[in-house]
Amino acid sequence: MKIGIIYYSQTGNTKTVAGKLLKTLEGAGHQVNIEEITIEGKIPAQPGKFEIVNAPEVDNYDALVFGAPVQAFSLNPVMKKYMQSLPKMEGKKIALFVTKQIPVLWLGGTGAISFMKKECELRGARVVGSKIVVWAGSRREQSIKEALANLSKLFPS
Ligand SMILES: Cc1cc2nc3c(=O)[nH]c(=O)nc-3n(C[C@H](O)[C@H](O)[C@H](O)COP(=O)(O)O)c2cc1C
Repeated sequence: MKIGIIYYSQTGNTKTVAGKLLKTLEGAGHQVNIEEITIEGKIPAQPGKFEIVNAPEVDNYDALVFGAPVQAFSLNPVMKKYMQSLPKMEGKKIALFVTKQIPVLWLGGTGAISFMKKECELRGARVVGSKIVVWAGSRREQSIKEALANLSKLFPS
């Protein structure tokens, strides 16, 4: 299966998880590309104050994983804008993840995943799973490990 991992990362955490997931999925025998959404503008990105300069295309993939950080108790505005610009994704299998600091999932994490899920489903895609990775303190490594296990299970070899 040809899988695209498409992410936005401001400080590198989401990028780290995306990179580990690339290796895990490749290890399971998939053909995987990793692509970063990049912007020009003020950091942290605020709605209306940045332009997306690299918006990865989704057409070439059978399946996609989208990853992004939670910011201000919501999905980061870059991923919001990117997802709202996506074309139809009829029949594509999708997995989602977000990274966040605060170890309370409903403080932004579940809402961010719901936003991404809705945008994918509006375009005819099938969201098969998601994971919230908590970055804070001692939970980080376990949270990353669980995310890699759960997300890769969604794409059997
Ligand atoms: C501007 C800003 C706002 C943030 N807001 C939240 C938040 O509301 N809840 C939370 O859990 N973490 C929040 N964080 C922490 C990030 O979600 C967390 O560090 C994430 O892993 C960063 O991912 P990145 O390194 O890929 O950008 C915020 C970080 C920044 C820079």
